[in-house]
Amino acid sequence: MPAASLEVTGLCAGYGPTRIIEDISFAVQAGDRLAVLGRNGMGKTTLLATLMGLSTRHGGQIRIGDEDVTGKRTSARADRGIGYVPQTRDIFASLTVEENLRTGLKGRPASALGEAYEMFPRLRERRGNYGKQLSGGEQQMLSMARTLLGKPQVLLLDEPLEGLAPVICDELMALLARLAATKEVTIILVEQQIERALDFADSVMVMERGRTSWTGAPAELISDRALVDRLVGVGIH
Ligand SMILES: Nc1ncnc2c1ncn2[C@@H]1O[C@H](COP(=O)(O)OP(=O)(O)OP(=O)(O)O)[C@@H](O)[C@H]1O
Ligand SMILES: [Mg+2]
Repeated sequence: MPAASLEVTGLCAGYGPTRIIEDISFAVQAGDRLAVLGRNGMGKTTLLATLMGLSTRHGGQIRIGDEDVTGKRTSARADRGIGYVPQTRDIFASLTVEENLRTGLKGRPASALGEAYEMFPRLRERRGNYGKQLSGGEQQMLSMARTLLGKPQVLLLDEPLEGLAPVICDELMALLARLAATKEVTIILVEQQIERALDFADSVMVMERGRTSWTGAPAELISDRALVDRLVGVGIH
């Protein structure tokens, strides 16, 4: 399946009656890469959760390709090709690495598991270990590998680099760049490592208190440190 576009219009959402996301609109063309930046608590995770149908939606529309998925359940959105790697690394603690990976196959043959081990050789070494026996970084790799096995058309990544050693961050970003270059998946990357996110993305959205405070090209932020400081509150290191 080729990548699919994602179009969000006037999205308002939160948790129960509490509104967190206010009037968010953006579009990502099939195969493109959007970075979503913002300080802590600005609503980035809530935005991704809303795209997956995991929050309370108060208004707005979400389209994947030419399909309106706004009213669809989370499982239907996953079937429609949205892959989600949450910030909380939702692996199964009492299943082994390989059993965890099998849950991501989505009907593909078990031989596809080799793809996950090629991406993350460390997971091959740990294939018989339980989820709860993995380090934080290994859990992150497992969560990512399991989602990628399902061949998502739109991939939502919530701070995939959090807690990873710099050398692993390099490897993971290189892997994502290769994946993006295939144009087989559209990627929405929420990340606090701003420089890496700007290197990767072809467009950027900054969030502030649940709203979009800036959108533009990565180059505009890379060349304007004061703007980054103002928008995200940290400089590029
Ligand atoms: N389950 C929840 N119920 C109620 N409020 C929540 C819930 N999860 C998050 N919030 C609130 O929603 C707001 C946005 O949180 P969110 O997790 O989306 O931010 P974020 O930008 O992802 O932050 P971070 O960078 O720290 O991950 C915060 O004020 C937070 O307290
Ligand atoms: Mg978050």
